[in-house]
Amino acid sequence: MPTYIVLLGPPGVGKGTQANILADTASIPHISSGDLFRENIAEKTDLGMLAQAYINKGELVPDDLTISMIRSRLHQPDCKNGALLDGFPRTIVQAHALEKLLGEFNGKVDYVPYINAPEPILVERLSGRWTCKENGHIYHEKNNPPKRSGICDEDGSELYQREDDKSETVVNRIAVYFKQTAPLIDYYRKQGLLTEVDGAQSIEKVTASLMAIIEKKG
Ligand code: AP5
Ligand code: MG
Repeated sequence: MPTYIVLLGPPGVGKGTQANILADTASIPHISSGDLFRENIAEKTDLGMLAQAYINKGELVPDDLTISMIRSRLHQPDCKNGALLDGFPRTIVQAHALEKLLGEFNGKVDYVPYINAPEPILVERLSGRWTCKENGHIYHEKNNPPKRSGICDEDGSELYQREDDKSETVVNRIAVYFKQTAPLIDYYRKQGLLTEVDGAQSIEKVTASLMAIIEKKG
């Protein structure tokens, strides 16, 4: 049976950082809807052109576009053992679509770790984030700096600051999260799938909390 993990949490809490670490251990691919959109934007695909305007304003991309992008990604062969979903689902409509989609693989959502941290921490993390151009490796100028400034330790590519990490966009992303995504917390709690993780801890401690959830249930 494939294993599907949904990482839930506000912008900047550390979903991508943790998913990169966990995907190696769990031997399932890390699927970030934000990364997929950014790849489409870089390649100037039709989807990328459509998504860019929403992303730069900190709004959600419409559900139908997002769901069909995730559907085609989950159909790829590397997802045969499951996936670690980061940033999807983000609305109740997307959560229902995911259930239907996983049914096609005889799968279901197995765990929903919900990483949370107070808003000032989120803002501080987003304002200091640097992302690698080639593969999306994530750094922070103070909390997790690269060995050489501006260069990714993993693949040597250039680091950049995301367009949507500008302070006015960050404020809107957090507001959109509370309005459209936070209802998923109760949705998954009612199904007994949610486990809360204190995202204000160090990167290593958050990883240890997440590993404990996966090992306990697995
Ligand atoms: P997306 O790329 O998913 O952005 P997000 O959810 O806002 O989350 P982030 O990637 O900003 O934060 P993160 O939690 O991954 O934190 P990270 O590990 O980088 O989405 C972008 C946009 O795409 C959306 O706004 C929307 O427009 C669109 N989109 C995406 N999915 C969609 C969907 N399903 N439906 C519709 N639209 C969608 O860490 C942040 C920083 O903190 C880094 O610098 C890191 O080094 C540092 N850090 C991490 N953990 C710690 C720690 N424990 N201690 C100290 N520093 C830490
Ligand atoms: Mg991310």
